[in-house]
Amino acid sequence: MSQHPDPLQARIDDYWTGRAPSYDAYQQRPERRDLDRQAWGRVWSGVLPSAPVEVLDVGTGSGHVACLLAELGHRVTGIDLAGGMLDLAREHAAELADPPRILVGDAVAPPFPPASYDAVVGRYVMWTLRDPATAVARWVELLRPGGVVAMVDSTWFTDGLGALYGDRPDAALPLAEARSIEATADVLRAAGLVDVAVVPLEEVLELDRAHGVAPGHDVQLQYLVTGTRR
Ligand SMILES: C[S@@+](CC[C@H](N)C(=O)[O-])C[C@H]1O[C@@H](n2cnc3c(N)ncnc32)[C@H](O)[C@@H]1O
Repeated sequence: MSQHPDPLQARIDDYWTGRAPSYDAYQQRPERRDLDRQAWGRVWSGVLPSAPVEVLDVGTGSGHVACLLAELGHRVTGIDLAGGMLDLAREHAAELADPPRILVGDAVAPPFPPASYDAVVGRYVMWTLRDPATAVARWVELLRPGGVVAMVDSTWFTDGLGALYGDRPDAALPLAEARSIEATADVLRAAGLVDVAVVPLEEVLELDRAHGVAPGHDVQLQYLVTGTRR
């Protein structure tokens, strides 16, 4: 059980620890693994500086993004709070010649010195942050001048989050039920990032249409949301 002092975050951690094995199995599906690597490699390479740079992957989960970026030559740190996810991320990292560091860390309060990263990335994380505005403000502090925040997400729960993390009133998450990805872009703008852009990931959509998505999910257009620190 998570010991996080925020009860909502503790429930989020326990949820993802419980889901970690099935989530990771889906990430590793052999029939689309190579296609995913190519498509996601293009997504991240299009927005990151040339390798090697220092990259922080917040909410790394089972390490899909962290491992891919390490394979692309970056120096990567992945953080998460769900022990079950971290175990799997470490297993995947151990298979690589130049693995990412996988650490316990809160995306809302990452435990690193200011100006220590060139990029902060995350996939499917903004929607589930308990305090996205504070998180992005901290990421800006972690970036060197000219560094980028690059988040992939979608509007997953426009019909309501339901009882995913329990049905207590404090289960509200600021971005989970957003009806437009512009809500995520606005959080980046409010944190002082400039040149904020939203790019639809058509290639990922085509892959999802061709190969299907996780059980219980619908095929949905995902977006890359980016911003730059002055
Ligand atoms: C949908 S999964 C995405 C995992 C991974 N980024 C990927 O692309 O497969 C969301 C992840 O965010 C993590 N997470 C949620 N809130 C977090 C926080 N405050 N700090 C760190 N990780 C968090 C969860 O534990 C979970 O692993």
